[in-house]
Amino acid sequence: MPETPIDKALFEAAEAIRAKAYAPYSGFKVGAAILADDGRIYSGCNVENAAYPQGNCAEASAIAAMIAGGGKRITRIYVTGPGSEPVTPCGGCRQRIREFADLDVEVISHGVEGEPLRSTLGQLLPHSFGPEYLGK
Ligand code: THU
Repeated sequence: MPETPIDKALFEAAEAIRAKAYAPYSGFKVGAAILADDGRIYSGCNVENAAYPQGNCAEASAIAAMIAGGGKRITRIYVTGPGSEPVTPCGGCRQRIREFADLDVEVISHGVEGEPLRSTLGQLLPHSFGPEYLGK
């Protein structure tokens, strides 16, 4: 279970939006909640598409909500999904998170019937490429 009050708030936000996920093809509903640098929580769910590659992951939706809402940096991110295995961000989403997070940011991956897995972004995406390579 979430260990701190902020993790509990992120877990609850991820679970609330996970219930709204549109996942008729995989049946695998995912929620993501970001604590941003403005102190707010932004959340998103996966949105699938009949043309499969056009689907969005929950993390991508949460990042879009953060940017639209005025947040600029991810200070913590919590991902929830079904089952007891931690639902870790896919490779593409690790890179998406990398755009807006420092490597020491905690990523909490949680299959809601099991225990959360805590990793840093640097652990999930070692030797990564990021904005600073392009001078940003
Ligand atoms: N999915 C996410 O939204 N985030 C992840 O971290 C893993 C996978 C979604 C994509 C797809 O809609 C479904 O889960 C099955 O892969």
